[in-house]
This record gives sequence, structure tokens and C-alpha cells, in this order.
Amino acid sequence: MSDLPTAVLGTDGPTVGIQGLGCMGMSEFYGPTDTDEALATLDFALEQGVTLFDTADIYGSGHNEELIGPFVRANRDRVVLATKFAIERRADDPTYRAVRNDPAYIRSAVDASLRRLGVDVIDLYYMHRRDPQVPLAESVGAMAELVAAGKVRHLGLSEVTGAELREAYAVHPIAALQSEWSIFSRDVERTAVPAAAELGVAFVPYSPLGRGFLTGAFSAAEQLSADDYRRYHPQFSGANAAGNAALVEPIQQIAAERGVTAAQVALAWVQQRAQVHGLTVVPIPGTRKRTRLAENVAAATLVLTPDELAALEPIAAKVEGNRYADMSSTSAGRE
Ligand SMILES: NC(=O)c1ccc[n+]([C@@H]2O[C@H](COP(=O)([O-])OP(=O)(O)OC[C@H]3O[C@@H](n4cnc5c(N)ncnc54)[C@H](OP(=O)(O)O)[C@@H]3O)[C@@H](O)[C@H]2O)c1
Repeated sequence: MSDLPTAVLGTDGPTVGIQGLGCMGMSEFYGPTDTDEALATLDFALEQGVTLFDTADIYGSGHNEELIGPFVRANRDRVVLATKFAIERRADDPTYRAVRNDPAYIRSAVDASLRRLGVDVIDLYYMHRRDPQVPLAESVGAMAELVAAGKVRHLGLSEVTGAELREAYAVHPIAALQSEWSIFSRDVERTAVPAAAELGVAFVPYSPLGRGFLTGAFSAAEQLSADDYRRYHPQFSGANAAGNAALVEPIQQIAAERGVTAAQVALAWVQQRAQVHGLTVVPIPGTRKRTRLAENVAAATLVLTPDELAALEPIAAKVEGNRYADMSSTSAGRE
């Protein structure tokens, strides 16, 4: 048994450990992966009380769902499996991306995810991105039909605004809203977080470690491997990187004074910020290493003091560069 506290996703969603595991980096985006260690990290996470495992159909163009499938099947009664649809890719063009929210696409996407994962039902099925061309009621209606058909247990949304969350909730209960939320990225606090708190929707902060930048693991794009997607991230590249690296210093200072790590400070901040807003959060830091998993889970017992929180408060407003090169698919881009 682990000591990790639990939380309920939404008003009638599953109970999960208060920290989940993001599996994306095991397949793509963050440089080379030791697959044996990544798979060992999945088992280790479960031992530590982590039960929410996060993937998406686009991570590695299906690779990530196939990678975690055997682990999920071997532990089906304990794992809460979350995956996502809505971003279409093409095998013949690695840069191609299209956002698809139409019901026919949703119906084919869920079947493809179930097949790759090798399971009968997905516990939490998210719309990964919003296509404003398709009425939200149509898309959420199609997602609700998947619940009725027994292919999906609970619904989630990612990167929607507060108004979009309310509109979707009127069609079908939403268990979780997954969007970027960290010491660096706080635009969600404008409308998405208050709406989630009001509706009783759990918030699942993705990239709570700022894609690793808040931990001090890297401070400039040049330190990353050639195929690492973060090389092109607006906050870590060009002139923005040096200024943003300096913003991380208060995190490191608090970590040094408390005898913890910067990653733990970043994770404790998300939990405590959620308390201010009165909502449940289950951050999903991504790691492919057992040592980091243990470090991240241990953050659950860290409580930052009011002075420490005050030192972290001004950071987000000073961050240079957007959190995506194209913000049109984020909640901030549609507010
Ligand atoms: N809904 C969406 O649009 C969306 C977007 C992005 C991500 N996500 C989901 O959210 C998950 C987490 O986000 P993320 O992976 O982008 O960012 P993150 O969790 O903020 O950071 C992950 C990075 O930090 C490193 N890291 C993890 N723990 C660490 C520690 N204790 N010390 C130092 N470095 C550490 C990881 O490296 P190692 O792996 O080498 O440990 C990885 O490079 C993803 O896996 C994915 O499932 C969703």
C-alpha cells in the first residue's frame, strides 16, 4: 500500500492517486527514451499509488497507446486509463496537424484507441483540442454516445475555455479538464479554473514541471537532443531562454532552503494553488525514470509557506514567449 492521498475526478468519476503519470515522453517529443526503464516506471508508479495514466492517440502516432497497453491490461482493475482524440496526423507528413471534433471522426478515433490499447473500455476520454467550427454540443453529444455504448466511462476536455467547459457540461457531465498549469503558465486561472471549480470538474494540470524547465534539468534549447521538440518551444528558444531560466532561480532557492528539489516545489505549488481556487487537481508530471517518479510522488507531502508562495507569485507574469508557437488551439487563444 502507498501513502499517496486520493481524489475523485468530477462528481461521479473514478478515485485516483492525487498525482498521475504523463506517458507522452515515453514515445515522442522529449528526446531518446530507454524503453525498459520507461516500462519499469509504469509498474513502479502503480506501486507508489499513482493510478491515473495519461496518453493520447497522437503521442508517437499511436505508439504510446501500444506501449502502455500491456501494462494497462495486466493491471486493468487498478489503472485509470486516460487517452485523447482530436489531433489528426498523417504518416506521410510529420508536421501535419488538423483538429477534428466531428462525430464521425470521434467514433473512428475511439475504436482505433481501443484497438491499440487492447482494452474494451477507456476510463477517461478527452477531447484533446477544440475545433470551433463544430458545435460543441455535437461533439460532446457524440462523446456521450460512447459512454452509452460502454466504450468510455467518463469524459474529459483539454484546453477549453471556462465558457466552453460550461457549454459541454450542460450536454454531459465532465469529469476532468486537462490543461497546462504551472508556476510558469497560469492563463487557465482566468476562466477555465473558476469554471471547473464551480462545476466540480477536477483539473488535471499537464506540463506541471514546465516540460522539465522548472526543474533546472535544462536551461536552453541547445542542451537538448536534435529531435527534442522543446528546441522549438517559444519559451526555451532564442532570446527568451536566458531570461526565463533566470525566473526559475526562486524555485531553486526555495528547494535548496527546504532540502527538496525544484520539481517538488513546482508540484507542491500546483496543489496549493488549486486549494486557493477550491478545486481538485491531479497533476500528471511526465517522467520515464523511476528515480524521478519517486521524487515527484514525494512532493505530495510538501507544503510551501505563505512567504514561499509569495516569492513564486510574480514569476508567470514575467515569462517571455507563449506556451505554444500557435496559440489558436489553446484556451487562452479563444478567450
Ligand atoms: N493535453 C495536452 O495538450 C498535453 C500537452 C502536453 C502534455 N500532456 C500530458 O501531460 C504530461 C506531462 O507533461 P509534460 O511531459 O509535457 O511536462 P512536465 O511533466 O512538465 O515535464 C516533463 C519533463 O520533465 C522531466 N522530469 C520529470 N520529473 C522530473 C524531476 N523530478 N526532475 C527533473 N526532471 C524531471 C521529464 O524527463 P524524464 O522523462 O527524462 O524524466 C520530462 O522531460 C505528458 O506526459 C502528457 O501525458 C498533455
